[in-house]
Amino acid sequence: MSDLAVHRCVCPGSFDPVTVGHVDVVRRASALFDEVVVAVMTNPAKQSTFSLEERLDLLRAALAGIDGVRVVEAGGGLLVDFCTRVGAGAVVKGLRSGTDVAYEMPMALMNRHLSGLETVFLPGDPTLEHISSSLVKEVAAHGGDVTGMVPDGVLAPLLARLGVTGDGATP
Ligand code: PNS
Repeated sequence: MSDLAVHRCVCPGSFDPVTVGHVDVVRRASALFDEVVVAVMTNPAKQSTFSLEERLDLLRAALAGIDGVRVVEAGGGLLVDFCTRVGAGAVVKGLRSGTDVAYEMPMALMNRHLSGLETVFLPGDPTLEHISSSLVKEVAAHGGDVTGMVPDGVLAPLLARLGVTGDGATP
């Protein structure tokens, strides 16, 4: 293998909460890299539904079956500094729609500008393209059925946090 090979990548996000789309991207990243560090970050632009500890716990449970994955709190600093600290040579992100391209591309270019850190984009699974943490929360909050959009262990905590029962009614 080349000396330039990148062995460790980072999958960053706020994961509020983790969805099956996130799990798909981490699983596919783990097939490409020896180790995937899933970095739970705080996005100041978003008010989080779950605490940092809760997001970490839900992620760890959801990713437990995937080899070579570590879930860590990344703190509030720059992603490039975190990647340097953990020795990761690439960021891996899933790309769903054109909206994702518009959101992700400036961050990828900025990270490369700051430290040379490259971003690898994985095309989103078309069957999961509509799934995002924010849409899942919006649908669930209005009584919609989000079964299968989040890992099994996330559904009950999500409904409880949003104050809705399994049948969509507010208690
Ligand atoms: O899941 P999200 O909320 O879309 O994740 C966005 C996140 C946390 C990955 C992004 O905001 C980020 O990288 N934050 C770390 C701070 C940073 O490095 N900002 C400059 C990005 S170019």
